[in-house]
Amino acid sequence: MHSIEELRELFTAYLNQESFQQEPKNLYEPNNYFLQIGGKRLRPVLLLLATELFNGKIENALPASLAIEYFHNFTLIHDDVMDNAPVRRGFKTIHEKYNLNTAILSGDVLMIKACEYLSKVEAIYFKTVFDVYTKTAIEVCEGQQYDIDFETKDTVTHDEYIEMIRLKTSVLLAASMKIGAILGGAGETDAALLYTYAENLGIAFQIQDDILDCYGDEALVGKQPGGDIIQNKKTLLLIEAIKRSSVKNDGRLQEWISKKEFNNTEKVNDFLSIFNDYEIKSFALKERDAYVQKSVQALESISLDEPKKAVLKSLVDYLVLRDF
Ligand code: IPE
Ligand code: IPE
Ligand code: MG
Ligand code: MG
Ligand code: MG
Repeated sequence: MHSIEELRELFTAYLNQESFQQEPKNLYEPNNYFLQIGGKRLRPVLLLLATELFNGKIENALPASLAIEYFHNFTLIHDDVMDNAPVRRGFKTIHEKYNLNTAILSGDVLMIKACEYLSKVEAIYFKTVFDVYTKTAIEVCEGQQYDIDFETKDTVTHDEYIEMIRLKTSVLLAASMKIGAILGGAGETDAALLYTYAENLGIAFQIQDDILDCYGDEALVGKQPGGDIIQNKKTLLLIEAIKRSSVKNDGRLQEWISKKEFNNTEKVNDFLSIFNDYEIKSFALKERDAYVQKSVQALESISLDEPKKAVLKSLVDYLVLRDF
């Protein structure tokens, strides 16, 4: 089996080899830019890892892994428009560097390229893999819509939040592992267990993303600090802070949320000090770790030997206990 680092290198070599060289330049060059400014490549690495766990050959899984990374990057390009985000991976987002139309169309072509690479999947697995992919891609759009709807919804429950992040984020991580397992020849039960494992890990991953948005080191995270706060994103942190502060009749958050014009830094700093008053960070860390526990439970009945289970458990550090 390859290490995570080796899988990332193998994937990167394949991604570079497949870079877009065709015309029109204004359509493809932005995608080459976006794919080269960084990215952790988590999803393709998870896919390749799952293939190897079930003794499949990674050569046969590379096109599917690239399809998933293309789809992921497409969602990020459009997500940055929807979230009004100026920076990603420490560089300008596509709509900032180019323009809105470029973000729309370069993003669109990347999504179709994902289908093109999926069609390279071996015929015996194609239908199963394609069905997982289309179901997931639709769910991501549904999650993104909830995320946007929640910006202007006064009360979002904890359960609604978890379902929103399950859809927008965790199903793609879970599908990556499931597709990898299928391509490795795993049985349905194991593929489903791996899905459940990654789905819970994906929820923990998005909670960590929300935490990093508030508390991360800007230089490492590579996004605008407090971007979620500026946009009134109903993250786990804000939902809990609203709950705890309303019990105390503390209207500070509601006042900020309803303000149309404000200084970004002032809003972010004030939110963080309110979060601090209500011990929100430690609450979020506990929630995150509860989902890590859930994910590990799914591994108990998977038919993999202990060393392989240990590889999966080590993904927790890589996916969740990260600082970027
Ligand atoms: C960012 O995903 C979007 C979320 C689902 C939180 P990643 O954190 O995997 O982004 P890159 O690809 O490494 O930049
Ligand atoms: C993004 O969630 C999920 C998708 C792109 C589908 P976020 O909006 O929290 O991701 P970042 O923080 O911009 O990476
Ligand atoms: Mg975003
Ligand atoms: Mg978003
Ligand atoms: Mg985020």
